[in-house]
Order: sequence, then structure tokens, then C-alpha cells
Amino acid sequence: MNIFIALLATLLCSRVRLCDGTTFCVVGGVDSANNAIITIHSASQGWVGFGTGSRMAGSSMYVAWRNSTGGVVLSPRQASGNILPQISSERIASLVATPSSITTPSWAKISFSFKRPLAGIVTLTSSTSYIYAMSDSAPENPDSPAAAIGIHSQRRSLGPVDMTQSIDSPDQILSVGGGGPILSLPSGTTYDMILRTHGIIMFVAWVLCPAVGIFIARYLKNAMGVWWFRAHFMIMGVGTGLLTIAGITLVYLYKAPPHFDDSPHRVGGLVIGIAMVAQIVLGIVADRMFSPTRTAVPWWDKAHWWLGRGLAVLGILNVFGGILLFQSFGYPVSLVIKVLVSFTVGVVVAAFVYGEFRLGQVHHMAGKSYDPEQTALQSDGSYIPLH
Ligand code: HEM
Ligand code: HEM
Ligand SMILES: *[C@@H]1O[C@H](CO)[C@@H](O)[C@H](O)[C@H]1NC(C)=O
Repeated sequence: MNIFIALLATLLCSRVRLCDGTTFCVVGGVDSANNAIITIHSASQGWVGFGTGSRMAGSSMYVAWRNSTGGVVLSPRQASGNILPQISSERIASLVATPSSITTPSWAKISFSFKRPLAGIVTLTSSTSYIYAMSDSAPENPDSPAAAIGIHSQRRSLGPVDMTQSIDSPDQILSVGGGGPILSLPSGTTYDMILRTHGIIMFVAWVLCPAVGIFIARYLKNAMGVWWFRAHFMIMGVGTGLLTIAGITLVYLYKAPPHFDDSPHRVGGLVIGIAMVAQIVLGIVADRMFSPTRTAVPWWDKAHWWLGRGLAVLGILNVFGGILLFQSFGYPVSLVIKVLVSFTVGVVVAAFVYGEFRLGQVHHMAGKSYDPEQTALQSDGSYIPLH
């Protein structure tokens, strides 16, 4: 976080959504009466505090926890140093309902919104810095706003963040430590639309394309002759290949760093993308090195089959992982979508079971059925025995 980001946010004139991984998020902006409206999401369940400045001393802090009946208690505090902050003498902050445009991440244990005027002991400006801290241990008497809280288990200085833009404007998404995304969202769009587009592209690339492209390579060589290869190359090499690169690039450009970290989906997605490039290279090698007189299946062909089969399975798992990750951000995924995706995957599996038992074992075309261990496919679509 640095001044540059604060400036960027100002230029873009949008409310800020700043997250530290999946442990802490703050969304802040001002309402029409020029009050700051600040929403906090915390993954810790004891207490969470958000304050001005870059250290405890002199900070106007807003600490919150759950009371004995589950409601949120807001406790404005101030501290003279790294010691237990005391109740603030300033009575300008109050809890408000979280604006409906703000989604609560599924990992959040404490979420609340409060309002205060920009002016105060510490006046909020476009370049005010902030800190946060949290703990999983709740105060002993949670019904009192003056309750003593234990020391934080996690804390961080966030640097300058502009919380003075309209709370009704779209989110400017920032993450702690890395700065903002390479591109800012096109006007009228929200980040979840980027992720939905990524999801649809990847669904086509890793559920629909492999279903057809691999089915053809595995079962339809006989039926399609030379066309099986052209179709497989177009669907897998061009279709899956370009769509995957586009889908990953899309998130990369609009997501604030860090990239490819912190979840099996992001790490797995990158691994799938890289392995896919190797798979395409292996496919091209298998085609170029093909010789009708070969007497054994070369290793690069086998590597292409097995890497391809593995990628097909991983790709489908990553599609489900992506949907779960998307949901964990608090974005809704309709039941219809989940049912449709699962149903499609079910149909694909059924098609391969059918292919395996009805097409894979085509023995009535003696000598012409394609068993890669026994026969080699020639470019004119006919087969010659390998042994
Ligand atoms: C096999 C298919 C998929 C691959 C290879 C893939 C790949 C990736 C990669 C590499 C990232 C990390 C990008 C970065 O950190 O800059 C990512 C993030 C993400 N993907 Fe996917 N993805 C796939 C399918 C999906 C699907 C179907 C969804 C459903 C909506 C989805 C939702 C997400 C979400 C929510 C993120 C996190 C974005 C963030 O951290 O802000 N992905 N994906
Ligand atoms: C992400 C992209 C790709 C995936 C996931 C993929 C997957 C597969 C799979 C799983 C098989 C074996 C089918 C089976 O018997 O189980 C296969 C066969 C084959 N693929 Fe691909 N493929 C991809 C791209 C390509 C490309 C770009 C080419 C060529 C330029 C290619 C050329 C071939 C060839 C020649 C075979 C048949 C090998 C043989 O049966 O001797 N593939 N592919
Ligand atoms: C807990 O908080 C809720 C909402 O803030 C409030 O309505 C309720 O009275 C509080 N319960 C106690 C026991 O103080």
C-alpha cells in the first residue's frame, strides 16, 4: 500500500474495498451527508479493531465483538501507546446497517458497519492511513462496550487509503501488501462480473471442449478418419488452449496482487495452465513425429495421453473449486447454475462410460479398429498393425 494507490482510488472515484487475504476486509466511503460509512469483515471471532493512523498511539479505533446474544457491540477506543486502548471520549460513531450493495464474505465471523462524520479527533481525509487488529478470544464481559480485550493475534498497518469517495460508487478493489490491479474495472462493471466471465470461459474450456475433443481422440478415430485429428487440434489446442490463456489473463489483469496464491484453485489453475502448454507441445510433437512404419507407441504419445487424461480430471475439479472460491467471497451462485454444471459433468462422464463400452471396444472392424498399443494411424485415416 502506498500513496500511489490512494491517488489511484481518488482518480477512479470509487469506494474502497481493501482486503488482507481472507482474514480482514474494510469497505469505506461517504454517504450523501458526508459521513464516513465503514464496513469491516473479520475472520477472527473474538474481536476486531480498525483504526486511523499507522500505530496504536493517537489512533481513533473502532473495536467490535459479539455480545452474549450474538449482536455486535461497537466500542470506540483510543490509546496512548501499545497498551490496552480505553473507551474514547469522542461519541461520534454508531453502528449502522451494512449497505445492501456490500456482500459479506463467507469466511467472515464478525461483520459490521459504522458511521462517523469525517471530522473528529482524527479527521478522515483522502490520504488517511489505517491499521487493523484482531483476535479469536472474546472479551470476558461482552455486553459492555468498555470491556477489557486481550492482545491481538494479528495486526497490520494498511497505509493510506481513500475512504472519502461515495459509498454508492463501485468498489475499487485493493489488497494489502501488493497494490492495485493492473487494469481498473470498465465503468458499469463489478469484479464479480470479471469472475463470472472467467468461470464461463473456463467451463467451456475444461468441461465442454475436453468432453468433445478427447471423446473424438479416444473413440471416434475410426468413424472420423483424418478429421479426428483436425477436430481434436482445433477443439483442444485452439479452443481449450486460447480460452484458458484468456481466462487466466482476465483475472490476472483485474485482480489486485498477490496472484496464484492462497487457495488450491489459484495454484491449481496456474499449474493446469502451464501443464496445458506442455500438453499442446506434446500433441504437436506426437503429430509431427508420427510415422506409419513405427513399431511402438513413442513416449511422447503416451505422455500426451496421460497428461491429457490427468488435466481433464483436474480441470473439472478446478471448475468446482472455482465456484466454491467465488461463493466464499460472498457472491451468490444460484442453485440452477450448480445443478446445470453438475448435470453437464454427469452427462460427460456417462458419455465416456458409453464410449468405453460401446465404441472403445469396436472389434467388428477387424484390423481397422484403433487400439494405440496395437495399431498406428496413418494420415489417410487407415491403420497398420504395430506388432
Ligand atoms: C479449470 C478451470 C479454471 C482454471 C484453470 C482457473 C484458473 C484460475 C487462476 C490461475 C486463478 C488465479 C488468478 C490470479 O491469482 O491472478 C483463478 C482465480 C479465480 N477463479 Fe478460476 N479457473 C478455473 C475455473 C474457474 C471457475 C469455473 C470459476 C467460477 C466462478 C472460477 C473462479 C475463480 C475465482 C473466484 C478466482 C479468485 C479471484 C480472486 O482471487 O480475486 N475459476 N482461476
Ligand atoms: C489442452 C489440450 C489437449 C488435451 C487436454 C489433449 C488430450 C488428449 C488425450 C486425453 C488424448 C488421448 C485420448 C485417449 O485415448 O484417452 C489425446 C490424444 C491425442 N492428441 Fe491431444 N490433447 C490436447 C491438445 C492436442 C494438440 C494441440 C494436439 C496436436 C497438435 C494433440 C494431438 C493428439 C494426438 C496426435 C493424439 C493421439 C495420439 C495417439 O492416439 O496416438 N492434442 N489428446
Ligand atoms: C446485543 O446486541 C444487540 C444488537 O446490537 C442488542 O439488540 C442486544 O440488546 C444486545 N444484547 C445484550 C445482552 O446486550
